[in-house]
Amino acid sequence: MPRNHLVPPVPNRASYIKWIEAMLGQGNSADGNGGESNGGEGNGGRTVLGLDLGTGASAIYPLLGCGSNDNWSFLASEIDKESVENAREIVKRNGLEGRIEVLDVGGGGGGKVGGPIRMAFEKWEGEGEKGIDFVMTNPPFYGSEEEARETRLDGRERTEMSSSESVTEGGEVGFVGRMIEDSLGLMNGVKHFTAMLSRRGSLNELVKLLKDRGVGKTCIKTTEFRHGNVVRFGLAWNFEDCVKVWEEGGGEGGPIGDMRDRVMEFFSESGTGGSGETVVGEDSGVEGVVTVTTDTWEGVVSTRPGSAKVVFGLKKFSGQEGKKGWREVCERMEGEIYRTSRKWRRKLGKKEKRKEDGEGGKGDC
Ligand SMILES: C[S@@+](CC[C@H](N)C(=O)[O-])C[C@H]1O[C@@H](n2cnc3c(N)ncnc32)[C@H](O)[C@@H]1O
Repeated sequence: MPRNHLVPPVPNRASYIKWIEAMLGQGNSADGNGGESNGGEGNGGRTVLGLDLGTGASAIYPLLGCGSNDNWSFLASEIDKESVENAREIVKRNGLEGRIEVLDVGGGGGGKVGGPIRMAFEKWEGEGEKGIDFVMTNPPFYGSEEEARETRLDGRERTEMSSSESVTEGGEVGFVGRMIEDSLGLMNGVKHFTAMLSRRGSLNELVKLLKDRGVGKTCIKTTEFRHGNVVRFGLAWNFEDCVKVWEEGGGEGGPIGDMRDRVMEFFSESGTGGSGETVVGEDSGVEGVVTVTTDTWEGVVSTRPGSAKVVFGLKKFSGQEGKKGWREVCERMEGEIYRTSRKWRRKLGKKEKRKEDGEGGKGDC
């Protein structure tokens, strides 16, 4: 191990690996065939591919993961040059070059492509995000050098780690927040996004961020890793569980189906006629669309990622007739439907601001 680099305590890292195994429905698969997978051949069976962000000087997660699962392989990204070299050496000495690829994401420029996941994909000469079963990370914790070097009450330095190991913009919340932003564009190719956090406060902040980004609670998992006095927190999110909710939502009696029925009821009652069609899960598998076409209007219902809430927009609504029709729909479905044009979003923003300032404000329509 190089000096001034983190020597990783193994127990909580082993627990983190076990948690991921459970997520993949996989125990110790000595036969190399256990668990679900994004597919791919290798090691005599189906392979599981993980991405470890910030693998450190020891590549501890890839070593533990490959050590206990014969069908796992890893991409391991690292920003610190010395750690990259050391991790590669350790991988070589363990004879795991065929299963662990250490990606050097340092050298500037990386930050331009997005967060840590995008940075890794940028350097990977593989198939982009397709086929990644899980992303994991033990992110740098502190937000600044000063914070990292503050002396503890007992006089010890707060950290013996190198600067890149311990400091990242915004601390661990900033790092995982950037992962979340990356993940929103990678819903289709990566199964599980995960992180290990040092503080419960960080976990709470990040769960809130995920929800704010429209990731529903069925898609978010949290856990604790306890070893002696040390507690770490696991956070995982995915988009597959949401898709299940959306698919169910599109069926009879589900929220999307229900919304479609009510929209159709409105059209027939108001004498405008119309016909509807529901397409759920097409392409991305994350959208439910109801298209209602009449001579004069067209409506689109779509779900927001991670929730079964239905957003209803009416195009071709103009003039007094349009306004009147829109008001009727709004009254009937208050709180469920939102206008989505830019002008309307601006209006809604102002209304929400007034509400926050305690000035009240009428529903969402
Ligand atoms: C707390 S250490 C974790 C090391 C190791 N995974 C472990 O658990 O012991 C965080 C690591 O992330 C690396 N790092 C920081 N920003 C990164 C980025 N954007 N992409 C890849 N690695 C990064 C640091 O150099 C450091 O090695």
